[in-house]
Order: sequence, then structure tokens, then C-alpha cells
Amino acid sequence: MRPYDIIMKKRNGEKLTREEIEYMIMGYVKGEIPDYQISALLMAIYFKHLDAEERANLTDIMARSGDMIDLSPINGKKVDKHSTGGVGDKTTLVVAPIVASLGIPVAKMSGRALGHTGGTIDKLESIPGFKTSLTLEKFFENVNKYGIAIVGQTANLAPADKKLYALRDATATVDEISLIASSIMSKKLAGGADAFVLDVKVGSGAFMKTINDARELAKAMVGIAKSHNKHAVAVLTNMDEPLGIYVGNSLEVLEAINTLKGHGDSKFVELCVTLATWMCYLAEIGSFDECKEKVLNTLNSGKALEKFRDLIIAQEGNPDVIDSPEQILPISTKKLYFKASKDGFITKIDTEKVGIACNYLGAGRTKKDDIIDHSVGFKILKKLGDTVKNGEPIVELHVSNKSDVETALKLLNEAYFIADTPIESPNIIIDTVK
Ligand code: URA
Repeated sequence: MRPYDIIMKKRNGEKLTREEIEYMIMGYVKGEIPDYQISALLMAIYFKHLDAEERANLTDIMARSGDMIDLSPINGKKVDKHSTGGVGDKTTLVVAPIVASLGIPVAKMSGRALGHTGGTIDKLESIPGFKTSLTLEKFFENVNKYGIAIVGQTANLAPADKKLYALRDATATVDEISLIASSIMSKKLAGGADAFVLDVKVGSGAFMKTINDARELAKAMVGIAKSHNKHAVAVLTNMDEPLGIYVGNSLEVLEAINTLKGHGDSKFVELCVTLATWMCYLAEIGSFDECKEKVLNTLNSGKALEKFRDLIIAQEGNPDVIDSPEQILPISTKKLYFKASKDGFITKIDTEKVGIACNYLGAGRTKKDDIIDHSVGFKILKKLGDTVKNGEPIVELHVSNKSDVETALKLLNEAYFIADTPIESPNIIIDTVK
């Protein structure tokens, strides 16, 4: 086999065999095939795409390039959740305790912030003392004892994806549906769960800007799961505005705790309930309606909140954060406001810009080893469809001395559109792909 022939085959729109894909990907991981040939292959895939079988093979090869986590020491059916990434997406912090409080084991490996989107692990690290790196033995022990553990991905989870993702980032080949689907699903399959609930974000703050693209991505991921004999459900959800009312690490933990106490933003609660219900359904604890009732009961009874406390205790965080979040979480008290420049209605939000603006305060990272400031972020005071008066605050900024406030305010000004005619506030749940 020669890399040249395989690149030409895909460039001409032909189908690659498993052996050819494996030869290229593993050759790249081992350093035997250079960046420039894999870049050419990625560009050929970008234009000629992969069919379902090629996608399944690519995913499987990337998953097997590193550790395949064996979750069999954990009793029961393991259901994982994944979000394709959004702004203000603290859903895991609410959904995981809900599901665990219903007796379904949650053995979750989560990611960190990347680009304009946040990451669950960075958010959890806002809680003083909370450890996101456990040995595999301790991870299993915690899930069996407390029913829940959330840790960062091991360094050797799908290393082929890590290498390819960096190359895609540098060669304008990130946004191809087969490549995104196989990248996400390789890490999910290596994580070892039996079934998956996929939250596919759509809109101005998501990778997928249109419903059609999001639906294609959802179908591709569900198809990859099926070809590995695993069940997956994808929920298409709106990301044309930040999710909930807070963006930023400590602030999102505060919002998660408030939501578990019954004081959540209604659309955010609807999303959490929907995702948790699908997780319960895939864990086979009842019909969809029965699962929804169980989810609402556990949320309203405070049991899910107590499960979040268990998680914090188990991973050595300060559990007082549950009762006094605003005292325990590092939240900057230095505040300023982005205000409306005229009377009208909020008709459009470039949510990606809101995420980038938050990074300029210090909440995210542009490079892998940038240090995150957990104390900064936004309280979103106005969302799509809301009325504003000239000079009225739209976003409350929690800033630090290191925040680039000027750039953040400039981006917020570009992100928010105020018009004379109102629009309807969008639904959070758009569609489901099974
Ligand atoms: N998230 C991933 O893990 N991979 C992609 O390709 C895009 C988003």
C-alpha cells in the first residue's frame, strides 16, 4: 500500500477499505506517514466525504488507537451523554446527578474548554478541592459506591483523534460531518458505555449552524453507534442564544446548583429533563413517560441535589458549596455592564461571539495549556425576544484585573442585535434522531 494511491482514490471519490484507512491512520499515529499526506487525505475527505461504512471503520480505528475503557467492573447499564459544545452548557452538572440519583451508574469522562465553548471539567474545578483526575480503580470504586464519578479523559483516549484534530484545526478540515462524527464517537466508544445520548447543538453558538447540518451529524453519530451494536439517541437543541443565564466556570456551577434546588431557567430545565429522560430510557428503567416522571420527581424531591453533594464529597471538593455556593465558589465581585444602545427587541445573538467575549475575560483557553480564571463570566440579563430600553443592562460582566474588558464589550456589542419588531423566543428542543 502507498499513501499516494490511497489519497488519489479518495480524491477521485472512491470508497476506502478498512485496511486502507487503518494503514493511513495508524501510520500517522506511529509517525511513519507525514503530516502533509494526512492533510491531503483529510482535504480529499472534506470534498468527497465518507460513506457510513467508511465512517464506522474510521471511528473504530481511532477508538482502538489507545485505551479502550472496560466499564464491566461497574454494575448495571452504563449510559453516557455528550454535547457537541455550546455556550453556557452546564447540562452535565445537572443531568448526571439526576440520572445517578435514579440508580443508573454515571461513569463519565468529560472534556475541557476548547475554542468558544466551555468544558465540564474546568467548571467542576471551580469547586475548591474538587479532583477531576482519579486512577481508574478509584473511578470504578466511586461509581460503585456513590453511583457517580466525573473525571477528565485519560491522556491515551483515542490518541489518533487528538493528532488528527490538531491537523484538521490547522488545515481547515474541522467542519466535515464524517470527520466530526467519527472524532466524537471514537472517544465515546473508547469510554466504554453501553448507550449514548447525544446533545447536538444547532445555531449561532454551535459548530453546526443549520438544522440540516445538525441532523446529518446526528444521523452520522447514531449510525456509527448502531454499527458498533450500541444504542444512541441524538437530540437537536437550540444554541442561538447562551444556554441558561450564566456563562463562565464558577457561575455555571452556581446555576447548576440553583437548578438542582428547583430555581432553574425554564428552557435549561427542559433541556436537562429531556436529556436525563433519554438516558433513563436507554438504561431501560421504564417507558419514556415513566422515565420523565421519575426524572421530574427526583429533581423536585432534592434527591438529585444530594447526589451532586455525594459527587463533590467523593471527589474531595468542599461540599458546603451546595448550601452556600456564592460564598464558596470563586466568583469575582467586580462587575460592570454591557448596555442597550437603543430601545427595541433582542432579535439575534451571535452566541459564538458571546463565548469568545467570555474567553477575553479569562474564562476559556485558546491554547491547550492556558490557565483558566474560574471567577469571571457573564450573567445574561436579556435573551432572544426580550424587550430592552436604551441604557438598560443586557449582560452583567464579572471581571478580574487580567480581563480584556474592552475587547469583551466590543464583541458583545457585535453579538447583540436590537430591532424594532419583536421575535418569538426559540424552543430549546428542535428534533430527535433515533
Ligand atoms: N468535537 C470533537 O470532539 N471533535 C470534532 O471534530 C468536533 C467537535
